[in-house]
Amino acid sequence: MTLAPVRVCVFDAYGTLFDLGGIPRSVRAELGDKANTLMRVWRRRQLEISWLPLRPGSHADFWRVTDEALEFAMEAVGVDDRRLRLRLMEGWLTPAPFPEVGETMVRLREMGYLVAILSNGSVRMIEGAVAAAGLTDKLDAVLSAETVGRFKPDPLVYQEAASHFGVAPESVYFVSANAWDVSGAAAFGFQVVWINRDGVPAEKLPLGTRATVANLAELPTILGG
Ligand code: LAC
Repeated sequence: MTLAPVRVCVFDAYGTLFDLGGIPRSVRAELGDKANTLMRVWRRRQLEISWLPLRPGSHADFWRVTDEALEFAMEAVGVDDRRLRLRLMEGWLTPAPFPEVGETMVRLREMGYLVAILSNGSVRMIEGAVAAAGLTDKLDAVLSAETVGRFKPDPLVYQEAASHFGVAPESVYFVSANAWDVSGAAAFGFQVVWINRDGVPAEKLPLGTRATVANLAELPTILGG
């Protein structure tokens, strides 16, 4: 079966385009080594909550999920400081982009690809992060799970990206640093690329990946640029 040509590159946001490392660094003066433990527990709890079925009447609000997870993580590591809690939450509004992100988006568009973000981040979170990173004019779309009402890896969220561009799933390259996201996107039908910046052991993804990269700058070559 010949696959439809790839026309769209869709990226996860946090950990893929944006470096979350700045968030624990912002409180290291107050928390010392506890900062990294807090961030690890926080991120894990945030994702675990996002994987749960949505409570009736609630909607996919990643800001609320992130705040709930932070309350859990602060209690887990024994930190009780309202000012720190506010500073930690605000870190999600202006996460630094990884160094190669801007130039990779420009390069992919020069090659004729449409480029977009598909994130569980709420509209406010993700549009704020894109604007703060100066990426607004480097993207063809910024898509939030909040408008779908579900979180990834629900297939309806990946469908949002395919529908937005009016393409078949196999015409989309989906790039994420999160193995569960790569697996969900592959199950939906996207061609997937896992970005493994830290060289962690590969998870045995049931559907595999089209490629694994350590840096987004490798993408144009993989896409045939
Ligand atoms: C996102 C998180 C889950 O950007 O990485 O969707």
